[in-house]
Amino acid sequence: MKRFIQGQSSSRQFAQRRALLQMARFQPFSVASRWFPNEPARPIIKTAFPGPKTQESIAKYGEISCNKQQHFPIDLQESVGNYIADVDGNKYLDLFTSISCIPLGYNHPEMAKASKSDLMKQVLTVRTGLSVNPPLGYLEVAEKAFMDVAPKGMTRVGGSMCGTCSVEASFKHAMMAYAGKKRGGSGDQFSKEELESVLLNQAPGSPMYSVLSFNSGFHGRSLGALSATRTNPLHKVDFPAFDWPSAEPPRYKYPLSENAEYNKE
Ligand SMILES: Cc1ncc(COP(=O)(O)O)c(C=O)c1O
Repeated sequence: MKRFIQGQSSSRQFAQRRALLQMARFQPFSVASRWFPNEPARPIIKTAFPGPKTQESIAKYGEISCNKQQHFPIDLQESVGNYIADVDGNKYLDLFTSISCIPLGYNHPEMAKASKSDLMKQVLTVRTGLSVNPPLGYLEVAEKAFMDVAPKGMTRVGGSMCGTCSVEASFKHAMMAYAGKKRGGSGDQFSKEELESVLLNQAPGSPMYSVLSFNSGFHGRSLGALSATRTNPLHKVDFPAFDWPSAEPPRYKYPLSENAEYNKE
């Protein structure tokens, strides 16, 4: 950088030079070193990818299950912070946080500490059907975990297991709210005809409501969520789908500096 700076002369370049010197003094802000002092400074590559143990493991897995989407098995003990370890001793910078499943980083010390608590032991070893038998203390947990951070106006909470379940639940909630409004009153005064026709997958119990989704969105792999998903045809092929509409999402035009007017709209 010094050599680059020395070769410049005009006042604009002088300003650039000052900015670069400031950048050189700047200590990048990182919380990773606070929590993961043993995190590597850069990726550690010991074998070509995929390494021999990785290939062997994926092939063996393929004998008992589907391995077509497997990138590589993780060495969970060796993974740390932003770095994911494979079974061949390589450590890669994981910009994907295991598809957002591990946003706090691998082996976060506070998570490890919490996992040893009596509460965690109980939660993991004695699982109850929450909607029927919520354990003592669950109300406080739900209030602290969800209601403290609930968006304004949201006063109730429901749990679900995964992204797909959440999408399905939101479809159902929207449809129930709509049907309830149409029905008037409390919304759950169903007619005899509705209760009978729904068991035959027929209207009026099973109404032809639609979900409008964007063309390029992924919403999950259950049949309902797949009908709104329009990313990879291989996620959908061979399965029946609801005949739901889709729309083109608004997209930024690039480069941003040349399309400011268009993008403002
Ligand atoms: C936007 C979106 N919705 C739904 C899902 C489905 O989540 P899950 O795999 O937890 O069921 C995903 C998963 O990648 C997602 O990215």
